[in-house]
Amino acid sequence: MIGRLNHVGVATPSIDDSIRLYREMLGATDITEPFDLPPQGVRVCFVNLPNSQIELIEPLGEDSPLTGFLAKNPKGGQHHVCFEVEDIIAARDEMRAKGATILGTGEPRIGAHGTPVIFVHPKDMGGVLVELMQQPDEAH
Ligand code: CO
Repeated sequence: MIGRLNHVGVATPSIDDSIRLYREMLGATDITEPFDLPPQGVRVCFVNLPNSQIELIEPLGEDSPLTGFLAKNPKGGQHHVCFEVEDIIAARDEMRAKGATILGTGEPRIGAHGTPVIFVHPKDMGGVLVELMQQPDEAH
């Protein structure tokens, strides 16, 4: 089921400060413009790397899912890892059959890459919040 590592999600209280950090400390040159994802309650941008991406995520709105994480990690921190799967529904059903909890309603939502995603509860994945993302069509 598991495919490419698509990105690593990093939560931050300030996406602008984090962009500066990745530019100045790590010399990142290819960083996308931040954009809002209101249904997910986050503001997002991507640091493009030769083999993957870092997804910088800042809370958007009062009931952002990042609010609790940033209360525990005020400076931000590593939040989730995202793996591509061929079929998001099949992946969800397989995870459920193996006893994993899918966050929210369990219905896939459109993620930052415009393809459906689900999140698997960290308690079922060794403490790691796992995002599964249907791989983009051009990757087939
Ligand atoms: Co993500």
